[in-house]
Amino acid sequence: MVQSEEGLAKIDKITPCRYGAPTVLVVAFDKENVFVYPGEKRDSGIEDASIVATHMMLAAKEVGVDSCWLNFLDPEKASEELGLPKNEEVLMFLDLGYAAEGAGPLANHESRKPLSETVSYM
Ligand SMILES: Cc1cc2nc3c(=O)[nH]c(=O)nc-3n(C[C@H](O)[C@H](O)[C@H](O)COP(=O)(O)O)c2cc1C
Repeated sequence: MVQSEEGLAKIDKITPCRYGAPTVLVVAFDKENVFVYPGEKRDSGIEDASIVATHMMLAAKEVGVDSCWLNFLDPEKASEELGLPKNEEVLMFLDLGYAAEGAGPLANHESRKPLSETVSYM
């Protein structure tokens, strides 16, 4: 969790997407402690950390705190700048704060593709 002035300045060097949030959660996972799926081509690292991030986002909303999911960053540069151990890979940042008055979702927020474009029935 980054809240210090010094830490937030580092976040601003990594991404332009803090939008003045006073708290930024850095979600990372231990590359050396992931579940490797049968077939050994994929592991659960990104998936596990995404689940954690999603739940933190929902928990924030539950207590009235707004958030913004950030992937507009170079994960390696982020680890270096923040001094994370070599085994930890940054997945994303979660800005936490209160949205500015009048802020709202993007225009296409409510647009939906027909199910026939996103679901295959087998
Ligand atoms: C995988 C992913 C990555 C995102 N990365 C960024 C980002 O780097 N910067 C940003 O401002 N918003 C980012 N967002 C947030 C989106 O800009 C947007 O606020 C969010 O998807 C909610 O809006 P929507 O429901 O209209 O899609 C990201 C969202 C997702 C799902």
